[in-house]
Amino acid sequence: MLSVHDLTVSIGPETAPLDIVAGVSFDIAKGEILGLVGESGCGKSMTSLAVMGLLPQPGPRVRAGRVLLEGSDVTQLQPWQRVEAGHGRMAMIFQEPMTSLNPVRRIGDQIAEAVKVHDGTSGAAALLRARELLELVRMPDPAMQLSAYPHQLSGGQRQRVMIAIALACRPQVLIADEPTTALDVTIQVQILGLLRELCNRLDMAILFITHDMGVIAQLADRVAVMYAGRIVETAPVEALFDRPRHHYTRGLMDCMPSRNSGARRLPTISGQPPAPGTVGAGCVFASRCAGVREPCRVASPPRTGVANGHEVLCAFPLNGGVAS
Ligand SMILES: Nc1ncnc2c1ncn2[C@@H]1O[C@H](COP(=O)(O)OP(=O)(O)OP(=O)(O)O)[C@@H](O)[C@H]1O
Ligand code: SF4
Ligand SMILES: [Mg+2]
Repeated sequence: MLSVHDLTVSIGPETAPLDIVAGVSFDIAKGEILGLVGESGCGKSMTSLAVMGLLPQPGPRVRAGRVLLEGSDVTQLQPWQRVEAGHGRMAMIFQEPMTSLNPVRRIGDQIAEAVKVHDGTSGAAALLRARELLELVRMPDPAMQLSAYPHQLSGGQRQRVMIAIALACRPQVLIADEPTTALDVTIQVQILGLLRELCNRLDMAILFITHDMGVIAQLADRVAVMYAGRIVETAPVEALFDRPRHHYTRGLMDCMPSRNSGARRLPTISGQPPAPGTVGAGCVFASRCAGVREPCRVASPPRTGVANGHEVLCAFPLNGGVAS
């Protein structure tokens, strides 16, 4: 459904670009959830905004690569041009619904407006569709909520409204950028359950972005681990948790509270990710890697297939817990 090839997003002058996303590639099939995980600043949001054609302007730009939606290259098209050209639909939801909802307009009107843009219907027909969308996202008492204002809803209900607005364009691909980070754990579980249900029911491809490995374990079918603008490991979710091969993935897992119950202090990965433009020759993770060896500092590691659907960007991958 969605294929991203060698996507590179850069800032700075054309003559001396700094890559904040460097050669990212991944595929997502219909009915599949790909989890994109990594520390703050590793390029998750820039990747997703570039895929959507929504990079902030002026600023970061797509310098290279292709985004294929059902085989058609949409890299140079804006979202509305993609729909007009019949190249499918993508929608996006974000962490804080309040920043996207208009506080002085009723929920029903805001969903109906999205319906009007995509279906061309208005008035009662658009409101009827808005109510159907609220039912689809399992909003309690959808008929009544149509006339509510955003501040009258809970955080979880507002996120359901944002998902309803995203579904108004009948997306083939839904990108969710940290949609549950601002919610408490119980509501987070409900929203994750809803996304899984919608993925299956509507046969959508979902790119789910998070910094939380626990959320990845609950929701994703496959995982792409991102570091310093690169995908450093891709694997089916079970394989990744059973046998992480990249030292960074292992570090992220060691930081999970569920794997450290009883520990007085959670482990952390020492050091900081490199700032854009400070990446030299060699592996981008070398300065923080517990398994670093001399060749790592000299040349970029190769991308290696270590098992079916499991790839790692490392010269000395872990092998079930120890460097091979
Ligand atoms: N508008 C911008 N202009 C220039 N650089 C930017 C801009 N937005 C982000 N960056 C830089 O791009 C890099 C990737 O940022 P991005 O927002 O994609 O990270 P992220 O993985 O989504 O982090 P977080 O988990 O904090 O949301 C960072 O180094 C960031 O400083
Ligand atoms: S290439 Fe070397 S420094 Fe990079 S992750 Fe692998 S072992 Fe660590
Ligand atoms: Mg982000």
